[in-house]
Amino acid sequence: MPKWNVYVTRMIPQPAIERLQQHCEVTVNSEDRVLTRAELLREVAGRDAVLCLLTDTIDVAVLDAAKGAKIFANYAVGYNNIDLQAASDRGILITNTPGVLTDTTAELAWALLFAVARRVVPADQFTRAGRFEGWGPMLFLGQDVTGKTLGIFGGGRIGSAFGKKAKGFEMKLLYCDVQRNPEFEAETGAEYVTKERLLRESDFVSLHIPLLPETRHFIGAAELRLMKPTAILINTSRGPVIDEAALVDALWNRTIWGAGLDVFEAEPELAPGLTELDNVVILPHIASATIATRTQMGLMAAENILAALRGETPPNWVNR
Ligand code: DGY
Repeated sequence: MPKWNVYVTRMIPQPAIERLQQHCEVTVNSEDRVLTRAELLREVAGRDAVLCLLTDTIDVAVLDAAKGAKIFANYAVGYNNIDLQAASDRGILITNTPGVLTDTTAELAWALLFAVARRVVPADQFTRAGRFEGWGPMLFLGQDVTGKTLGIFGGGRIGSAFGKKAKGFEMKLLYCDVQRNPEFEAETGAEYVTKERLLRESDFVSLHIPLLPETRHFIGAAELRLMKPTAILINTSRGPVIDEAALVDALWNRTIWGAGLDVFEAEPELAPGLTELDNVVILPHIASATIATRTQMGLMAAENILAALRGETPPNWVNR
């Protein structure tokens, strides 16, 4: 007889569900879509634990509807979708899935960087459209990567993994964060610099910062003006850290060279004009989307839930 009742707000890789089923009665949202607000409020009621996603807004009303729940295990490293204080006030544990998606996310940032620098997406579209008439000396000229300056905002797990992968490209590394990362500096020679210097000197600027009240619109019109006209901006963190309207303006006016975005300010909505630009690559928030990583994220969330239900400290508890 299963002891606990767990709700999973959207289908995730099966091994996580099976792990939970060893000890719990598990209900999974059977629709392949985000639950409506009304559905979320209804479904969390009476559960011992909820496995939720970054697309679920877990606020006071949801936490109150889940009265009696011990834990909300977020299937993401970021947890800006959850009101942590409200959860703490109600004695509900919140956990995330750090570490397992670090390299996967860093790899996608590199994929975006190269895609924009070498104009991979428009070149592919051009070729598929049957417009390739032979090698052309002026066809899809891009930007070199080797030997350039890479600027990283956020020297934490993902930012430093992204920076370490620059080694083979002999890049100069600059980084900026609220605190230094001595291990990252020692391993890569990265220089800890101010925000302004990073923006002015980098050929590529990649964002690896959490979304907090103080990082909303961390990159806006003023910051974009500091960047080189040949610079490329990459964002795999959270959309609202960029003022998307200002970015569309900068890309449209070519005051920067390009951008690669995996996340958007009002996801899944895109800023007006974004899809008309040929100097931006836009992806549907897939930085952690590999089979292995999404499976690990699920297993990690499941272990957090099982620990909390057993009365133990979940390994990835964030609202201590
Ligand atoms: C995270 O874990 O925060 C990612 O954005 C999910 O892909």
